[in-house]
Amino acid sequence: MVENFAALAARIAQLKKEKGAVILAHYYTTPEVQAVADFLGDSLALSVKAKDIEAKVILFAGVHFMAETAKVLSPDKKVLIPNPEAGCSLAESCDAEAFAAFKSQYPDHLVVSYVNTTVGVKALTDICCTSSNALQVVESIPREQPIIFAPDRNLGGYIKRLTGRDNMVLWDGACHVHEQFSLEGILALKEKYPEAKVVVHPECKATVADTADYVGSTAGILAYCEKSEATQFIVVTEAGILAEMRSKLPNKEFIPAPTIDSTCSCNECKYMKMVTLESIIACLENESPEITMDEQTRKAAERSIINMINIR
Ligand code: 13P
Ligand code: SF4
Repeated sequence: MVENFAALAARIAQLKKEKGAVILAHYYTTPEVQAVADFLGDSLALSVKAKDIEAKVILFAGVHFMAETAKVLSPDKKVLIPNPEAGCSLAESCDAEAFAAFKSQYPDHLVVSYVNTTVGVKALTDICCTSSNALQVVESIPREQPIIFAPDRNLGGYIKRLTGRDNMVLWDGACHVHEQFSLEGILALKEKYPEAKVVVHPECKATVADTADYVGSTAGILAYCEKSEATQFIVVTEAGILAEMRSKLPNKEFIPAPTIDSTCSCNECKYMKMVTLESIIACLENESPEITMDEQTRKAAERSIINMINIR
């Protein structure tokens, strides 16, 4: 925890009260940001929370597409993002204009997009999904209906393998963090800790997902570790989740999986770490930066997210 945590957290609590704000934070933010959040969750839980929450102001401690999703679902609320530069390599790998051109090549396909997309791509989407419900969403579509799945080739490939649906066309995008995990490193850890269960996020490559005892979203991984009788877990997702795992399950051991380049902190999402306590304070004080968007795009994007929520 940062040195002056108590003073910064007290200022945030005061500002939240003054502004009628709530803080939603993703599991990949830093432990100190997670500690000042009113709600902590995976991208699905946070989208639903943003929609149902009673507050004038939502401060989204996460990346840009998550705050955008909150605004799409809560157009009458002020949605703030402490650092608008906090992007997502996966969302950025799918530009709305290029995606529209891709989509036009498959006029009879239904579009399923992962929530890690810009509002422009969501507006071109029939049903949104997250890593928690991607399988459910795809299975809700008649088998003979061809699908475009965007933007994550790894999540799309995983769902394609699970469902055996050959009529799924994948957009070629990926997350720079989840593609960095080392298969050799994970196999070596499995040998060192033979009792450990391997938990993997589906944004990882297929060869890495094949080593898993459990594949799922951040919330799914947490729930699996909680229920499992095992006491050791090799964690193959962004390192921010370790804070919540260790605080919720102090008697279990969580071993972060190694990345291909052992000299960098490649298992950390640099965008999620751009949210700091200082940036939260400045954002609440100024009520800015605020997420805004054109109403026509918002409405089109909202339809794809509501279609997802209705499937749950
Ligand atoms: P979750 O849907 O598991 O929260 O994942 C979001 C994300 O950005 C993973 O990299
Ligand atoms: Fe995007 Fe990857 Fe960061 Fe998740 S971990 S927000 S997919 S860059």
